[in-house]
Formats: sequence, structure tokens, C-alpha cells
Amino acid sequence: MYIYKAAVIGAGTMGAGIAQVITYSGLPVILRDVNQEAVDRGLATIRKIYQTRVNKGKMTASELEQKMALVTGATDNSGFSDVDIVIEAIYEDVVVKQKLFQELEAVCPETTIFASNTSSLPISAIASATKKPEKVIGMHFFNPAPVMKLVEVIPGLGTSDETIDDVVLFSESLRKIPIRVQECAGFLVNRLLMPYLNEAAIALEEGAATAKEIDAALVAFGMPMGPLTLFDLVGIDVSVKVADILHDAYGSRATAASILGELDQAGRFGTKSGAGFYDYKDGDQAGLEAIIQKMQTSGGLQETKFSANRIIMPMINEAVISLQEGVASAGDIDIAMMAGTGFPQDKGGPLHYADQIGVDVVLSELQSLAGRLGERFWPAPMLKRMVAGGYLGVKSGLGFFHY
Ligand code: CAA
Ligand code: NAD
Repeated sequence: MYIYKAAVIGAGTMGAGIAQVITYSGLPVILRDVNQEAVDRGLATIRKIYQTRVNKGKMTASELEQKMALVTGATDNSGFSDVDIVIEAIYEDVVVKQKLFQELEAVCPETTIFASNTSSLPISAIASATKKPEKVIGMHFFNPAPVMKLVEVIPGLGTSDETIDDVVLFSESLRKIPIRVQECAGFLVNRLLMPYLNEAAIALEEGAATAKEIDAALVAFGMPMGPLTLFDLVGIDVSVKVADILHDAYGSRATAASILGELDQAGRFGTKSGAGFYDYKDGDQAGLEAIIQKMQTSGGLQETKFSANRIIMPMINEAVISLQEGVASAGDIDIAMMAGTGFPQDKGGPLHYADQIGVDVVLSELQSLAGRLGERFWPAPMLKRMVAGGYLGVKSGLGFFHY
């Protein structure tokens, strides 16, 4: 099915970015939110993205107006009778998303695809409330949507092959890299990213290093931004929800750092609220330091040591567990982490990186971290099998890939 017209519901951080991507490819899009103020904010975000391109000489002012003319702001269901795909980017709550799709099924054509940009909610559960689960799918963009190349395509239990193919082609037409991922909590990228982000937060609350030191170490590793800065970009409120879902699915190894809840309760949601792990108003870190101080005195947290490996190893370990479970192939795992999070291209993704440093080195590093810091670092069983079988990575010619 060719997609001639799209609708994006939710004009916030992700929705506005997704609508910009759609207009950039030349398609008309409805951008709907709960009130005119939210719609106007979304439209202003899109205009700002195009204006930056005009300022850099990458497009003309009249091209900007042509692109803006493709977006129609809405607060109701008018204009949905010829929409081919709806992408929702609203509040991360399964019931709210179910209700939205139920409401839109009544006003959209029979053939409309209902895609969810959820970070971690089960697609099958969202689909279960609709009349046509075969038309419901996960279409997961990454923040900032106009820049990050990846779209995870996540079929639910009832999603038809036709819907999957349509969404893959549509993603390609948006100049994105679609990667099909098996449905599981966190899908692929958030499942790997969250243990890495979470460990940075644990290291911070345990006083292993300051926020700036932790971020600097991971930037030195080659990540485009540090993990605590990334938490602030994603949103602490969104991250808490994702972390809860991962904990519910994977148990104790995915226990969220306590500081996430503390920041959430303090209204420090990240860049969007002016403060999170960092303070964006005056750059003064006293607010964060007071929260950490309080946690350390009241929570009896023990001071631990910091190393970049402590933050990176949980991501590699989760990549191996996901590979074992068949969530995606080794090649797709690496491409997804590079295209979705900017994992350094010269290291080739977490599994190529494991092969470079040695699968045996990864195993012994995880064993040592598990001994010192806890069972959340328990190595994936596949690592032991590989080492026992001589699959040590580049140095033995065989690892996650062949050399
Ligand atoms: N909207 C649109 N364009 C943006 C943008 C935004 N919010 N932020 C940056 N850009 C553009 C810039 O205009 C610039 O464009 P040109 O190349 O045309 O000049 C380009 O992106 C690079 O920007 P900068 O030079 O300002 O900054 P940078 O090189 O440091 O890149 C970054 C910024 C792309 C955000 C980079 O730091 C990065 O890749 N960070 C990692 C982000 C990440 O991991 N995202 C995934 C989070 S997890 C998620 O999203 C899933 C979930 O469910 C929670
Ligand atoms: P946001 O809070 O920035 O924006 C959500 C918008 O949805 C708000 O403008 C809100 O008014 C609107 N909204 C809520 N209920 C609505 C409804 N019933 N109808 C219309 N509009 C409604 O949130 P966000 O960060 O853009 O996240 C949106 C979704 O995208 C969530 O499911 C989130 O998990 C997912 N996601 C977030 C990120 C991220 O980095 N923030 C990345 C990928 C996916």
C-alpha cells in the first residue's frame, strides 16, 4: 500500500520531530494534540528545525514555507478520512494509547495503519483493544527524530506481513534505516541502552564520579553525548517508565537507579523542564548534589569505583542476551545501536566491539564487575559457551562475526 497522507498524534518532543521528517520527504501530515497551544508548540518546533537549515544555507526560505504548508495542525478528528498511516507519539500509557486507536479507527479508512512510537509498551497489548490488530505495529523513532537514522519496526502478535512491509517501505521513503525487531520489553535499542544509562546513574548516586566525569569518559569512548546528558534529552519521566517496564520484564538486573525516581519526583525531567541531571538555567549543579547527598546519608549507599567499562559492559551483555533470544541478528543489533544511539562507527556496534577487545576479555570483565558490584553484571551464558569454544573474536578469527 502506498502512503499518500500521514497523521501524527502528539506534538511533543517526538511527534513534532516525526512530523518534520514526514514533511521533509514531501508527504502531507496532520499534527494533532490535545489543545491549540500544544499544536502551536509542535508547529513552532518544526519551523525552527527548517529555519536552522535555511540559516545554514541548506534550503531557501520559500522551500521552508512549502514544507510548512504540508503540515495541518488539529485538535479534533477532522481530516482523518483519507489518512493512510497514523503514528502516535502521546503519553506512555497503554490504556491511553488503546483509547486513542479505538477512537481513530472510527474515523479513518479500513486500510489505515496504526503505528505506535512507544518506547517500551507491548504492541500486542495496544493492538488487542482495536478491531484490526493486523494493522497495528510499532514504529519506533529515536530522539532527535530528524537526526537519528533508525526506525525499529516491531510487529505485534497479530500484525500482518503486509503491514510490516508497508511500514518498512514507508520508513525507507523517509530516508530512515528500518530494522525489524522481535517484540520484547524495550524492543532492541532501549533494552540495550537502558542498562548502560542506568549504570551511569548508579555510579553517580554511589559517588563513583561526578556527572561531568561520567559523561566525559563515555564521550572519550566515542559516544556522541554522555549517558547522563542523554537521560536529560530523552526525559527523566519517559526514562522512569521505560526502566519500570524493563524491571518488570527482566527482574533484578534491570532495577532502576534510585536517583531516577528522586529526579522525577523533584520535577527535574531533563532539558524540557530546565533541569535533570544537569541544571540548564544557570549551570549550577548544587540541586543535583543536594539530592545525591541526601540519598547517600539516608540510603546508606556505599562509595564505589568508576570506569567506562562499568557503563559499557552492561550494554554488551544485554546485546548478547538479546542475540540469544533472537530479538535481532548480530548485524542488525550493531547497525541499530549505531543508527539509533550514535554508538561509535569505528567500533562497529557493541558486538563488533566485543570481538575487537576479545570475547574472553568481555567475559572476565563482567565476572569481575559481578563480584565487585553485584549480580546485575552476571555474564550472558552465550559468552561462556563462546569462550569455551574458542570464539574469542578478531584474534581467533571467529566471534559474533567471522574474520
Ligand atoms: N532537531 C533537529 N535537528 C537537530 C536536533 C534536533 N533536536 N539536534 C541536532 N540537530 C541537527 C543539527 O542541526 C545538525 O544538523 P546539520 O548536520 O544539518 O548541521 C546535526 O543535527 C548535528 O547537530 P549538532 O552539531 O548540534 O550536535 P551533535 O553533532 O553533537 O549531534 C546529536 C547532536 C544528534 C543529538 C548527537 O549528540 C547524538 O546522536 N546523540 C545521541 C542521541 C541518542 O542516543 N538518541 C537516542 C535516545 S533513545 C530514544 O530516543 C528511544 C526512546 O524510546 C527513549
Ligand atoms: P512529550 O511529553 O514530549 O509529548 C507528548 C505529547 O502528546 C504532548 O504534547 C501531549 O499533550 C500529547 N498528548 C497526550 N495525550 C494525547 C492524546 N490523547 N491526543 C493527542 N495528544 C496527546 O512526550 P515524548 O517524549 O514526545 O514521547 C511521546 C511518545 O514517544 C511516548 O510513547 C514515548 O515513550 C515515546 N518516545 C520518546 C522518546 C524520547 O526520547 N522522549 C524517544 C522515542 C519514543
